[in-house]
Amino acid sequence: MLSNRLPVDRVIADDGTASWTHSPGGLVTALEPIMRSNGGAWIGWPGVADHPLEPFDSDGIWIIPVDLTARELEYYYEGFSNDTLWPLYHDVIAQPTYHRDWWDSYVEVNQRFADAAAATAAEGATVWVQDYQLQLVPKMLREQRPDLTIGFFNHIPFPPYGIFAQLPWRTQIVEGLLGADVIGFQRAADAGNFTRAVRRLFGYITRGAVVDVPVEQAGPLRVPGTKRARNSLPATRPVLAKHFPISIDSRSYEELARDPEILERAQQIRRDLGNPKVVMLGVDRLDYTKGIGHRLKAFGELLADGRLRVEDVTLVQVASPSRERVETYRHLRDEIELTVGRINGDFGSISHSAINYLHHGYPREEMVALCLAADVMLVTALRDGMNLVAKEYVATRNTDDGVLVLSEFAGAADELKTALLVNPHDIDGLKDAMVRAVEMPRREQQKRMRAMRKRVFEYDVARWSDSFLSELGTIRSHTGAAIPAAEPVVDLEDVLEQDAGTTPVEALGDARG
Ligand code: G6P
Repeated sequence: MLSNRLPVDRVIADDGTASWTHSPGGLVTALEPIMRSNGGAWIGWPGVADHPLEPFDSDGIWIIPVDLTARELEYYYEGFSNDTLWPLYHDVIAQPTYHRDWWDSYVEVNQRFADAAAATAAEGATVWVQDYQLQLVPKMLREQRPDLTIGFFNHIPFPPYGIFAQLPWRTQIVEGLLGADVIGFQRAADAGNFTRAVRRLFGYITRGAVVDVPVEQAGPLRVPGTKRARNSLPATRPVLAKHFPISIDSRSYEELARDPEILERAQQIRRDLGNPKVVMLGVDRLDYTKGIGHRLKAFGELLADGRLRVEDVTLVQVASPSRERVETYRHLRDEIELTVGRINGDFGSISHSAINYLHHGYPREEMVALCLAADVMLVTALRDGMNLVAKEYVATRNTDDGVLVLSEFAGAADELKTALLVNPHDIDGLKDAMVRAVEMPRREQQKRMRAMRKRVFEYDVARWSDSFLSELGTIRSHTGAAIPAAEPVVDLEDVLEQDAGTTPVEALGDARG
């Protein structure tokens, strides 16, 4: 397994002593159980710069730290990953920054990860590369180790071509990804955006979810199943680009939700909040994609309109610190905290604050207690690959009540169809949904929640990884050797004649839809 972050974080205390802690984030939560049950090595960054560390065994997972220098932390991680790709892939909610030296650093660090995997993986092993920080690794790894089966999973959205095309290094990124045998996305729309980018940039043939990627051949190609050698058609390698919506370890959440200590903690939270009639909850990394500002605006207006009263309803907003050295994130924090302060100042009283704002990360047990204490969960992301918090809330609600207000722009909306789906940009619509959630009869809550629970328990993280790995096994068994390309469906010359004026690649892409 390769991911930017290891499942453990190296923490250096002020007195210089070092220790390991679990790193937060959906990715880690999702993958840990799979790694433990299957054995294997996890290659990643331990969360501190300029701190080379030796590989070690952590609870049955072999950990291989990749060191980043302080400059790489700034250029590859904070810069290219989180100030170029992150905003670009999330519908340019924030303006992406393009710097050539950030890109150079991204290439260098991706090469380091690829080299580490090439040195670690056994002959014929399966390597699974995670997320947007490492999009060049599949190609770099295939060049060194053609024996490996390589999967890639993109945890964040893949943008429409009109947006992706901004990226000065768009061809290198797509080429990098096409080094994998299977490229997984969260939603069908993301996979579609990717295959469209492949057609527009390279003109490769795509058949549904399969992209035929030309393979350079040293000599004449032998067609499998025949004795003929053909020189006329280029060989291709099929690459599957498909959606595999990620999920959570649902049973472990349900178990925690039955734990008497956690149940008691949930009661305590409600008591500490002054036993309001309704507790609303938001749990997010403090990120501009999460629509926290939109949620606060809607909540503040509902209080101003008198449709909600602080005596009845409290909003608990957990905003865990994230990427705090990136300027856009620093601005966001100021903006959110200003809004929280204003709303609390305008509507709070000595005995009731409108918003309980917590700028901390919490352990899983406390998150479950918060979910149990909450009558309404607000997920109002402006764009989100999946949003595992929505699934976590559902998994903890074993009394089948509680209302999930869920943004249409989160990947989870494709699966959790009985949530109250909202467009967070439509503040009036969001306000109506919040009131509807507060007033929803228990029977309706249970009907909606049961359908969502069915989905979350049937499609858990084990099923996600099984389906990805099984597609990886299947496609690889068909491609032990390169196979010849199908006859092209569209003749380039024809398209060019019809489409004079467009570039060959654009014309070919358009002709294939
Ligand atoms: C998202 C990304 C992950 C990332 C996580 C936390 O979920 O998809 O790859 O690890 O955010 O962000 P960070 O930059 O702190 O690793």
